[in-house]
Amino acid sequence: FAFTPANMEWAQGQISKYPEGRQASAIIPLLWRAQEQEGWLTRPAIETVADMLGMAYIRALEVATFYFMFQLVPTGSVAHVQVCGTLSCMICGAEDLIGVCKTKIATSAHALSADGKFSWEEVECLGSCANAPMVQIGKDYYEDLTAEKLSWILDEMAAGRVPTPGPQNGRFTSEPLSGLT
Ligand code: FES
Repeated sequence: FAFTPANMEWAQGQISKYPEGRQASAIIPLLWRAQEQEGWLTRPAIETVADMLGMAYIRALEVATFYFMFQLVPTGSVAHVQVCGTLSCMICGAEDLIGVCKTKIATSAHALSADGKFSWEEVECLGSCANAPMVQIGKDYYEDLTAEKLSWILDEMAAGRVPTPGPQNGRFTSEPLSGLT
């Protein structure tokens, strides 16, 4: 693994933000950029980042395995669906969303769909409990979901379209609630 010249320049800029001896503090942005470049975090990518930061590989791996934003196996070329399975989402229908993923993508988490376009996993609370149930796809949240809505979103993405993220039931929490203004 090697960063592209542009990514290497960006990575060096991140490292330079920290004082001598503290370069390891740049590990999360560097791992993130490596994942963006490759689609997932390969062992060579983690080793390269560790070397750049003067860290042991095992310490870099500890970080990569702690956060579920890092993917250690290949993900779908179109979308990796992270279904929140924590309390609020589970009460409001996360199991239905997981059922959609099992039916439309693959029966096992982290497995690729037959066409390689999609993958999925269950993750812990994504901090959007008021809009449960929800999923994260890439950097976007799709909230207030139903099984039908998630199924539609996956169909749209398979066809090359990106549905508007956010609440999928017409609720937009950035709007002032009536009676409170
Ligand atoms: Fe799902 Fe918090 S429980 S976002």
